[in-house]
Formats: sequence, C-alpha cells, structure tokens
Amino acid sequence: MRFSSTCLAGLAFSPLALAFWPASDVYNTAQLPEQPYNNDQPNTKLETVFQFPNNGSWIHNLVVRSDGNLLFTRLDTPEVWHLNTTSGNATVVHSFSNVTSCFGISEIADDVFGIVVGNFSPTTYTPTAGSFSVQKLDFNTKKADSEERTLEEHTVSEIAAMPEALAPNGIASFSPESNLALVADSVKGVVWKVDIETGDYSVALNDTTMLPASNSPLPLGINAVTVHGEHVYYTSTSRMEYCRVKVDKDANPVGDFEIIASGFLPDNVELTQDGTAYIPTDPQNGVVRITPLGQIALVAGGQVSFDLAGPTSARLSKDRKTLYVGTSGGQIAPVLGSFKEPAKIAKITLQ
Ligand SMILES: *[C@@H]1O[C@H](CO)[C@@H](O)[C@H](O)[C@H]1NC(C)=O
Ligand SMILES: *[C@@H]1O[C@H](CO)[C@@H](O)[C@H](O)[C@H]1NC(C)=O
Ligand SMILES: *[C@@H]1O[C@H](CO)[C@@H](O)[C@H](O)[C@H]1NC(C)=O
Ligand SMILES: *[C@@H]1O[C@H](CO)[C@@H](O)[C@H](O)[C@H]1NC(C)=O
Ligand SMILES: *[C@@H]1O[C@H](CO)[C@@H](O)[C@H](O)[C@H]1NC(C)=O
Repeated sequence: MRFSSTCLAGLAFSPLALAFWPASDVYNTAQLPEQPYNNDQPNTKLETVFQFPNNGSWIHNLVVRSDGNLLFTRLDTPEVWHLNTTSGNATVVHSFSNVTSCFGISEIADDVFGIVVGNFSPTTYTPTAGSFSVQKLDFNTKKADSEERTLEEHTVSEIAAMPEALAPNGIASFSPESNLALVADSVKGVVWKVDIETGDYSVALNDTTMLPASNSPLPLGINAVTVHGEHVYYTSTSRMEYCRVKVDKDANPVGDFEIIASGFLPDNVELTQDGTAYIPTDPQNGVVRITPLGQIALVAGGQVSFDLAGPTSARLSKDRKTLYVGTSGGQIAPVLGSFKEPAKIAKITLQ
C-alpha cells in the first residue's frame, strides 16, 4: 500500500474540491431556514510562533496543555516536542525508539497524553501494518518534595501494541468514566477503542465513510476522531467527508453515520462547545470552520496561499480565542506545485 504524493496533489486541485470552496452563491439564501450560526469569514491575525530550520520537518498533531503551552508530534522523526507559546522556545520531550514516526496525540487524563507511534515512510507515504502502538506520556511523576512539574520529569510507557492495526492515526479520549481512548485507523477504515488501563483493544466503529475512497489511489480514509456530547465526530480524507455518529457509553454506534460536510480534504478536527468545527485541509493549505449545520467558511490560508503550507492539525487555546495550527510545510502537495517550507506552528487569533 502506498500513499502516492502525485495523486494527493491531484486530489488537492480537483474541481470537486474547489467547487465546494466557501463563498459560493449557488444557494438562494431566502429559502434557507433561519441560521443560528453566523458563519461569515472571520477576521483573523496569523503569526508564526515557531518554525523548524529544515525542509522535510513534518508536524503531525498537537495538543494544548492546561498551562497554555503545546505538545506536538512529528511524522518525519519519532519525537514529541514541547513549545512554550510565550517564548516560542521548542524542545524535544521524548524520542521513541524502534519506530520512525509519531501520529495523533490527545490528553487522556490530567496531564497524561496518549500518543500513536509506528513506522511510516514520509517519502513513499507507506505505513507499516503491525508496527503501531499507543504510548503514554505522563507528566504527573513529579518528585515527592516538589510542587513543580517540569518537562524533564515525565514517564513514558506502552498502553497497547496494536498488531492488528494497519495505520492508526488520530486519537481521542472517549470519556473520563470509561478508560477508553478512540483511535482512527486510516487504512482499515475503523475506529478502535483502546482500554488505557488494560491495553485491550477492539473495533468500536466500522463504516463505509471511514474507508479510503474506492477510486482513490491514496489509501487514507478516516484521519481524526473527536468526541462531543453523545457523538463521535471524524474526518475521512480521501472521501473528503466530515461525519459523526451517535454512540452509547461503550462507544458502540447507536445511530446513523451522518455526513455533515464534504468536498474538501480534512485532516484533524477541533470542536468548540457549541459543536463548531475547525479543520485543517492539509493539501489545500487552509483551515476551515464548519457550523453544526455544515456551512463552511475559510478561516486562514487557502489553496493558493503561502500562509499555511500543509496544515495538519488545529487546536484551540483554553479561552478559544487562539487557534494553533501545525504544518508539514506543504510536503504532500507543495503550494502551487512547488513551494515548500520547514514545518511550523502558526497562531491564529480569532477576533
Ligand atoms: C515559557 O517562557 C516564559 C518566558 O520566557 C517563561 O517565563 C516561562 O517560565 C516558560 N514556561 C515554561 C513551562 O517553560
Ligand atoms: C529553551 O528551553 C531550554 C530547555 O528548557 C533551555 O535550556 C534554553 O535556554 C531555552 N532557550 C531559550 C532561547 O529560551
Ligand atoms: C526494538 O526492536 C528490537 C529488535 O527488533 C527488539 O529486540 C526490542 O525489544 C525492541 N524494543 C522495544 C522497546 O520495543
Ligand atoms: C467492518 O464491517 C464490514 C461489513 O460489515 C466487515 O466486512 C469488516 O470485516 C469489518 N471490519 C472490521 C475490521 O471489523
Ligand atoms: C525549502 O524548499 C523550498 C523549495 O520549495 C526552497 O525555496 C527553500 O529555500 C527551502 N528552505 C530551506 C530552509 O531549505
């Protein structure tokens, strides 16, 4: 199985993807029901907080810690980094042995993070089935005589090896009560549920919307997963879909798998309290905002913009006034076919 870069670049410029781009006036607004959500293109300020020195660096996913600083994962090397959002100083927190890459990261308990790691070639875009596991990065291991938690004081341990998984990618905590983390498998087209205490794992969700698109040479289906209320929300990249399904307390589906919006290339998804989604569109170089009704607005970047080359992940600050975006620097689909830059963390101030 190969993730073909040329095909991905083709997808990025497909007319279908562009046809659904925001600011379309094909709808007669008079016929729409009253819209509870204002979805005009927002005023934003975009700044670079941190950038690597080298092309080829690839930030895959990030989380905001309770102190407002970031942890982010890299795909080109098996490292988790910390970014001080005040000073812009970034340092390696942990480097995993025996794997090439880090994927999704999510807070699974207070200052404890679940991280998907495995083998992946950033040149041929090929994941190695069976090489994946979920690891735990725990900052609660402070010294007994100290109230301070420092970056240096952490432990790393394995939650679960996932030999049956083909390409685990995004991860999310399911509920505080359940001990479950959900892990999206981009090639198998399922969501695994992993017991973070025992390491047991099984398929929780399995639907056609999670499989790679049948006509796509790129076997990248479900990419990211997140939980809001009684629903699990997910993005499916080659199908160009953003979806949700209602689940029970064990993360089993109890409703239809619904497509909320489609026609763009989604990477991860960040949800606000009211169910509004922020989604980076990696090969399309933008971040879009989608209301619970499925209306799309461009927040920053854009298909032919150099502002956000290859945005892979977006997370809101705790006060929801700032959206942090990690990028691959446009490695999969360079902007306008040729522009790449080192991976960076951008800060979008939502005004
Ligand atoms: C972040 O940087 C600021 C300014 O340099 C410093 O005061 C603060 O202690 C740093 N925070 C961490 C967690 O390193
Ligand atoms: C960045 O953080 C590291 C580790 O805490 C520290 O050694 C270094 O001095 C910091 N650099 C800057 C420019 O603040
Ligand atoms: C790393 O791989 C080597 C060789 O396959 C193996 O012996 C070792 O147990 C592995 N270590 C870990 C931490 O998985
Ligand atoms: C997903 O469901 C399909 C159709 O029911 C089934 O064929 C397939 O084996 C399931 N996949 C997994 C991994 O359970
Ligand atoms: C990264 O690659 C681009 C080509 O897309 C080149 O123009 C640029 O100078 C490179 N940047 C670095 C830091 O090597």
